[in-house]
Amino acid sequence: ENNKTFTMIKPDAVRNGHIGGILDQILKGGFKISAMKYTYLTPEKAGEFYEVHKERPFYKDLVGFMSSGPIVAAILEKDNAVADFRTLIGATDPSKAEVGTIRQLFAESIEANAVHGSDSDENAAIEGSFFFSAFEKF
Ligand code: CMP
Repeated sequence: ENNKTFTMIKPDAVRNGHIGGILDQILKGGFKISAMKYTYLTPEKAGEFYEVHKERPFYKDLVGFMSSGPIVAAILEKDNAVADFRTLIGATDPSKAEVGTIRQLFAESIEANAVHGSDSDENAAIEGSFFFSAFEKF
């Protein structure tokens, strides 16, 4: 499948009141919401989600941050979803993100960067299944 991606609205953006603004950008960007939930990651779950980054110096902080408050998890649908969503959100570091991208508009820092976007079709499927069971995906 190349028509789906997975996203989270991260704890910083939820705390800062940006759920509505971010969903508005996502819908204006031509994405359809296939599945969505307001939820949270325990430290254990956050550690598991970001397991690929386990050896990175920022891993421990990232796990603490991602379990610091509620998130919104969603599966998004559009042609060329993974690549188009990464364009819509902008660079990981918001100070380097293009004007008008979600991270430029709403992120605080390289860690508290407002949103997650899957980096491949394979990871989009894995990450979507981390949060949603088959009957929750439309
Ligand atoms: P995300 O796209 O969700 O994938 C990994 C996350 O790690 C990234 O967004 C940031 O939240 C965080 N991250 C990546 N690089 C750094 C860094 N250099 N310092 C701190 N956090 C980082």
